Amino acid sequence: MNLFDVYPINDVTIVKAKGSYVWDDQGDQYLDLYGGHAVISIGHTHPHWVQRIEDQLEKIAFYSNSIRIPLQVQLAEQLGRISGKTDYQLFLCNSGAEANENALKMASFHTGRKKIIAFNKSFHGRTSLAVAVTDNPAYTAPVNETDNVIFLPFNDEDALAECFASDGDSIAAVIIEGIQGVGGINVADDSFLRLIRSLCDKHGAVYIADSVQCGYGRSGKFFSHDFAGVNADIYTMAKGMGNGFPVAGLIIAPHIKPKHFQLGTTFGGNHLACAAALAVLEIIEQEKLMGNAVMVGKYLRDELSAIPQLKNIRGRGLMIGFDVPAELKDLKKNLLWNQKIFTGEAKPNVIRLLPSLALKRKDAEQFIDSIKEEISNLVSATVN
Ligand SMILES: Cc1ncc(COP(=O)(O)O)c(C=O)c1O
Repeated sequence: MNLFDVYPINDVTIVKAKGSYVWDDQGDQYLDLYGGHAVISIGHTHPHWVQRIEDQLEKIAFYSNSIRIPLQVQLAEQLGRISGKTDYQLFLCNSGAEANENALKMASFHTGRKKIIAFNKSFHGRTSLAVAVTDNPAYTAPVNETDNVIFLPFNDEDALAECFASDGDSIAAVIIEGIQGVGGINVADDSFLRLIRSLCDKHGAVYIADSVQCGYGRSGKFFSHDFAGVNADIYTMAKGMGNGFPVAGLIIAPHIKPKHFQLGTTFGGNHLACAAALAVLEIIEQEKLMGNAVMVGKYLRDELSAIPQLKNIRGRGLMIGFDVPAELKDLKKNLLWNQKIFTGEAKPNVIRLLPSLALKRKDAEQFIDSIKEEISNLVSATVN
């Protein structure tokens, strides 16, 4: 049997990982500034995370949500404390798309309405509703097409206000990434998020903060939406939550009341997933990783801004993007093959940095030296 060929892949086989490093089957070491797409939050194979999962595996790995699972309660308490959203309610699931799917469903259940506002260049996942609010027709099958989604320009306050003025009472939810990831690292303006909050309040709509990629401390705050100083009604999370163990969730404000059977899952919130997620929160706190994301992220952005060929350096904390001019189109590839550094990309010409929140300053310095070397090689190749 062949694999279903849906991924363009790099020709490399990773067999070992530690902290911000991975090794291939030839024994070559790579600096990982991609984190398997923003997933590695506390560092690959962190010893505490490994131990917590191993200990849990010895006790019980899984039982369904038909029994009490105290680890879920512990996780909700820790998450509430660290995020500051102590009075929210946690629903656990398995992936970012599923978290958004459930968030959108809850918004519709709660309001009794159907229309959702989403934004240009958004990415919210590939399941039915999540892909319907994703601004990329290549991901949308005919069965996913719906009239229930209104796409507006990102950060356009007038367009948002006009839309609410004409359609406000049919809007169930507004869904927005605090920093668009797949769309190319575009930071939502604080004033835009505050406008979403006030218009949702005025019209009884639900503000959904997709924090799947920009959340879990990556921006330097637990949720990047928090920079705006207002709360969303629902936050969705996944990637960094398990440091590679598949676990996701949504936290739901207290005024949205649960009803039995509206949401459900077989695997979500299983014992092993909770152990992994607890280990992640413990390390984020003990190792002060949000502070590290702020410091190392600022160093990277400052250094990148001083490289004249790179344009529009942007992002927050350790979620960073920059534009690469056409003559440097091989930069990402050369960083990988010549310097052994993984970075991410966004089409057509953006490099994305999504490293572990524990990235060390010396590794960031190595990256800056390497990118300067590769830029200089590409520039002299163009001149000659
Ligand atoms: C902002 C955002 N939301 C949702 C998703 C979907 O997450 P998953 O791939 O876990 O379904 C992603 C994945 O890249 C994402 O970046």
